[in-house]
Amino acid sequence: MNLQNRDFLKLLDYTPEEIRYLLDLAKKFKKMKKEGITHRYLEGKNIVLLFEKTSTRTRCAFEVASYDLGAHVTYLDPVSSQMGKKESIEDTAKVLARMYDGIEYRGFSQEIVETLAENADVPVFNGLTDEFHPTQMLADIMTVEENFDTIENKKLVFMGDCRNNVAHSLMVVCSKLGMNFVACGPRELWPNEELVEVCKNINKETNGSILLTENVEEAVTGAHVIYTDVWVSMGEDDSVWKQRIELLRKYQVNKEVMNMASSDVIFLHCLPSFHDLKTTIGKEIYEKFGLKEMEVTDEVFNSPNSKVMDEAENRMHTIKAVLYATIGGNNE
Ligand code: CP
Ligand code: NVA
Repeated sequence: MNLQNRDFLKLLDYTPEEIRYLLDLAKKFKKMKKEGITHRYLEGKNIVLLFEKTSTRTRCAFEVASYDLGAHVTYLDPVSSQMGKKESIEDTAKVLARMYDGIEYRGFSQEIVETLAENADVPVFNGLTDEFHPTQMLADIMTVEENFDTIENKKLVFMGDCRNNVAHSLMVVCSKLGMNFVACGPRELWPNEELVEVCKNINKETNGSILLTENVEEAVTGAHVIYTDVWVSMGEDDSVWKQRIELLRKYQVNKEVMNMASSDVIFLHCLPSFHDLKTTIGKEIYEKFGLKEMEVTDEVFNSPNSKVMDEAENRMHTIKAVLYATIGGNNE
């Protein structure tokens, strides 16, 4: 398997075998890290991290993965680069490619990261756009596999805003890997119809399936993985909270929902999550709408079934696999 110089923009661009290769590589890196075996295969390489939206996990995962591999990083925060304001995306890509061996981008439309990739002759990585969050998917599937050994015939249910970047990406990765994907939420927030068609076609090859439903019981009965995400994503206007709460409150992941699933069900969430009143936004929502918990209850978030911290850790191991496979090392 050779992924040298490949961009990592969305999982639609990757074959099931390539995704499998990255997952297996991530598992090897995790083992090496736990055993204290150094793996500085990218010594002398430089990676730039362009963030137009905020981040904890993705930024830290890219930084730690790079350092463990012996590479250096430059972080450009949401306001300190010229991109878009004074310099086109095309010019930015060409300039950065002269200095760096890889470019990570987190921001708004998928078109931006695709344009960066078209104009940079080094690998470009999507660290989240409005449409997709592909590095998150590798960590999610890795976490599922750590709990079930195999993903064959596993049912993964996404509850909530089923047309956001995470839900769309889950639908793609489940289809690529032949899993049973369920999107559960109000019809108004169902996945993009064109993408559903694309994924249904992929499923013809992989034996996966897709179900869209408004019915929570139908969705979660027999589920192995219940996954949710924030009800309002980065880049959306604060004014949408009221309507989103009205639409999504009955799709909260709580004990009753978990009890309807398979007895070995796990709970996943890409994080950050509103499950208590310990955040500024959480408090504001409580004051305005009286909700103490949003997409998931604190009880489920902190239950033994919740694997969200393993999932967060796995961001680093999987991103390391992507960096190593695409930038390539000569020190192995
Ligand atoms: N899950 C995830 O992408 O987290 P951050 O927004 O903290 O990077
Ligand atoms: N859907 C969320 C994911 C955060 C990791 C957002 O885009 O804000």
